[in-house]
Amino acid sequence: MDKNFKIVICGGGSTYTAGIVKNLLDARRLKIRELWLYDIDAPRQDAVARLVAQVIRENAPGLPLKVSTDPQEAFAGADFIMAQMRVGGLPMRVQDEQIALKHGCVGQETCGAGGMAYGMRTIAPMVQLVDYCEAYAAADYWIVNYSNPAAIVAKAVYALRPRARILNICDMPVEIEARMAEILDCELQDLEVDYFGLNHYGWFTKVRRRGEDVTEQLKAHVRQYGYVTQKSYQDLLVQDPDWRHTFENAKTIANLFPDYLPNTYWQYYLLGDSVVQYTDIHNTRGQQVINGREKRVFAAAEKLKNGEAVDMSQFYVGVHGLFIVEVMCSLAFDERSRQLVIVRNNGAVENLPDDAMVEIPAYITSRGPEPIRVGPIPRFYKGLIEQQDACEGLLVEAAIEHSYAKALQAFTMNRTIPSATVAKAILDDMIEANKDYWPPLQR
Ligand code: G6P
Ligand code: MN
Repeated sequence: MDKNFKIVICGGGSTYTAGIVKNLLDARRLKIRELWLYDIDAPRQDAVARLVAQVIRENAPGLPLKVSTDPQEAFAGADFIMAQMRVGGLPMRVQDEQIALKHGCVGQETCGAGGMAYGMRTIAPMVQLVDYCEAYAAADYWIVNYSNPAAIVAKAVYALRPRARILNICDMPVEIEARMAEILDCELQDLEVDYFGLNHYGWFTKVRRRGEDVTEQLKAHVRQYGYVTQKSYQDLLVQDPDWRHTFENAKTIANLFPDYLPNTYWQYYLLGDSVVQYTDIHNTRGQQVINGREKRVFAAAEKLKNGEAVDMSQFYVGVHGLFIVEVMCSLAFDERSRQLVIVRNNGAVENLPDDAMVEIPAYITSRGPEPIRVGPIPRFYKGLIEQQDACEGLLVEAAIEHSYAKALQAFTMNRTIPSATVAKAILDDMIEANKDYWPPLQR
């Protein structure tokens, strides 16, 4: 008998929800019994639900859509839980960015001080989600988590709920692969990569196009242009100048460190000074998202409420949603597809600690990911990763033990923060700004 899945999107009120639902409906092999949206913010979720209902009308009429703020009914018997929570919402993202920038440091959603602040907010709600799923979901539930900051979330959930059926993923590598495919004039499916690192902190070591090693060819392009082509340069300039800047910045890193191809997030750790200079504290990325994507989503929801037509394709998220759905299908049907995911190292990268949560390729089976062995990595990359892993580990311990001392060590350990005194100043501001969200830290 074909299985019919109950799928719950946790963080239903996200600006990404409608687009991701489109990708879910496109994966015809994933038969959906019920689609649920769950969020703690009812009005926000209700607005997004109107867009989702429209996506369903256009693509899978008749599919039951349920919207809830009650965890018990939402997670009851759920097979898949897609976790995409943003604790504190976009306003807190902006605060994170601005507080760090005020102290002259990188102000970013997932990297540096902003990422650590966001991590401290997200650990408890993620653990609560695991507990809901253990209590109410199907015994063989899977949480596919792409809530940020994924590195810290993965480490914390493993420390606190090691048996949770959760797979942590991030779309950035596959978004970069899509750019690589464009550069190489092939399809995304034609590419297979080798990769190692932590989330938002990794390197591509090999790229194969239908089996042929094209790494050097690609490196030559990236050293000259970054992850952009002449065509996408123009498109990106119009659609999203910030992302164009990010994809271009890979050029500088690829020239400085020609061994491997960088994840774009290295710009925050390796080019911090120029990123700070580029960032406008009055128009941070979070503010751009509030004034762009978020406005468009809620304007469209309003239009649908008034019976006006909306072009839904503007909300389709493409590679991001496709990747999530591929991972889910591989878990559901034991497809063993090869994907980059975040797993406990356990020797996969030989000279990194076993308990590092590394981002590496794995075959995704119905029992979970089977990581592919990476082997040893060179000292420079090992050193960078060990420092960041220690930073994230200390932050998780700070959250669990309510330790101010460890939080200060974590902030001091982060590459984006130049000194212990700056670390302390930022941490103290973050504690104040996050008093409704962070666990209390004992001094
Ligand atoms: C990529 C990353 C995500 C991150 C997002 C931010 O997709 O993998 O982890 O949340 O970029 O994009 P935004 O448009 O919100 O700045
Ligand atoms: Mn990510």
